[in-house]
Amino acid sequence: MKSLIDILDFSVEEIDELIYLANDIIDNPKKYSEICKGKKLANLFFEPSTRTRLSFEAAMYELGGNVIGFSEAASSSVSKGESVADTTKVISCYADIIVIRHPKEGAAYVAANNTSVPVINAGDGGHCHPTQTLADLLTIYREKGRLKDLTIGFCGDLKYGRTVHSLINALTRYDNINMVFISPKELKVPNYIKKDLLENKDVSYEETTKLEEVIPKLDILYMTRIQKERFLNAEDYLRLKDSYVLTLEKLNGAKSDMSIMHPLPRVNEISVSVDKDSRACYFKQVLNGKYIRMALIIKLLKESMNFNFDFIGYVDPNTMVNIMKDNKRIRNLNTERHKRLTNLIKCNNPRCITSTEQELEHIFELRDKEDEIYRCIYCEAKGNR
Ligand code: NCD
Repeated sequence: MKSLIDILDFSVEEIDELIYLANDIIDNPKKYSEICKGKKLANLFFEPSTRTRLSFEAAMYELGGNVIGFSEAASSSVSKGESVADTTKVISCYADIIVIRHPKEGAAYVAANNTSVPVINAGDGGHCHPTQTLADLLTIYREKGRLKDLTIGFCGDLKYGRTVHSLINALTRYDNINMVFISPKELKVPNYIKKDLLENKDVSYEETTKLEEVIPKLDILYMTRIQKERFLNAEDYLRLKDSYVLTLEKLNGAKSDMSIMHPLPRVNEISVSVDKDSRACYFKQVLNGKYIRMALIIKLLKESMNFNFDFIGYVDPNTMVNIMKDNKRIRNLNTERHKRLTNLIKCNNPRCITSTEQELEHIFELRDKEDEIYRCIYCEAKGNR
C-alpha cells in the first residue's frame, strides 16, 4: 500500500502529477466534490497543529469524505502507554487513510509498517514534513511557473525545521537549484542532509549567518520559526529566538519578484508590515496546502476508489528533471545486511521513536559505502559501532 513518509517516497513524475491534479481541483472544484464519498480519513495528532490538521480535514470534506481522529496525545490511549504500532493497527480498522503527526522521529514510518491502509506523515519530530513540501512545491510552481533554475534561501532554524529538511530533499531533484542556508551557527542544516544528499548529488549550496548579504540574489526566501519545542535547553532558545526578523527595510535589497514563503506559524520572523508586500505569499501557501492535500488523498486512495484518472503519467514540460537525481528513497527492511547490523549498533538519538518504543528493532541502512556510514532507518541519525 502506498504511503507518504518522506518526500523521496514519490518520484518527480508523481509530484508533477499531484501538482497537475491540485491545479485542476483549483479550477474545477465541483468535479471532485463527491469523489471520496463513503471514505474516512483518520487524523492522529500527537503534537499541536493548526494548518496541517485542519487542512487535511477541510480537504477530506471538500472531497465528500469524512474525518475521525484526535488532536492531542492526552485524548488517546497513548496516554495509557499504547505504542504507535498498536494505535495504528486499531485505527486502520476504522479508517481508509491515516494522517499522523508525532514528536518522535520515525513515528510515521512505524505507523506505515503496521497497517494496510495508506499513511501520511504530517510531521515526525524535527525530521520530515512531506505534505508541507508538497504545498511549498505547488506554491513555487504557481508563483514562478517552474521548479528549476532557482536560487532559494532558507532562513532560521535549519537544524530542527522539518519543513526545511523535506523541501531541501525535494529540490535536490530539479535542475539548477542553488540553495543558500542562512542560520545561526548552532542551527545549521544537519550533516546527513549536506553530506549524504547535497554533496553526493552535486547540488550547489552555501552557508551564511547574514541574511542581508545574500538577499539580493534570491528568487525565493523561505523563512522559518526557531523551533522552541525541540530545544533541550531553554536558554539556548532565548538566545537564538530572534536571530532573523524580516522587515520591509530589509526587503529593499531584494529582487522585486522574490517570493517570500513561510510554512507558518510565524512567531516574530516576519514583521506584520511585510504581509502587504506583493512578494509575501505565505497565506497563499496555506491555501495551496489544502488543494495539494486533496490531490494527495485522491492519489493514495485511488486504488480503492471508483475514479478514472486520465492524466496519470502526465509530466509538466516546465519541470525539467535531472534523471540521475530522480532516485526514490527505497527502504528495504528485511535484508540480511540490516539484520546483521541490528546486533552491532543501536540508535542513540533521544528524539528517535526507538528511544520510547522499546520493542522496535534498531535497523540501519548503509548510506555511504566508501565511508561506511550507516543511518537509522527511522530518524536517519548516524549509527556508531
Ligand atoms: C510547521 C511544522 O509543524 O513543522 N508548521 C506547519 O505544519 N505548517 C512549521 C513550524 O511549526 O514551524
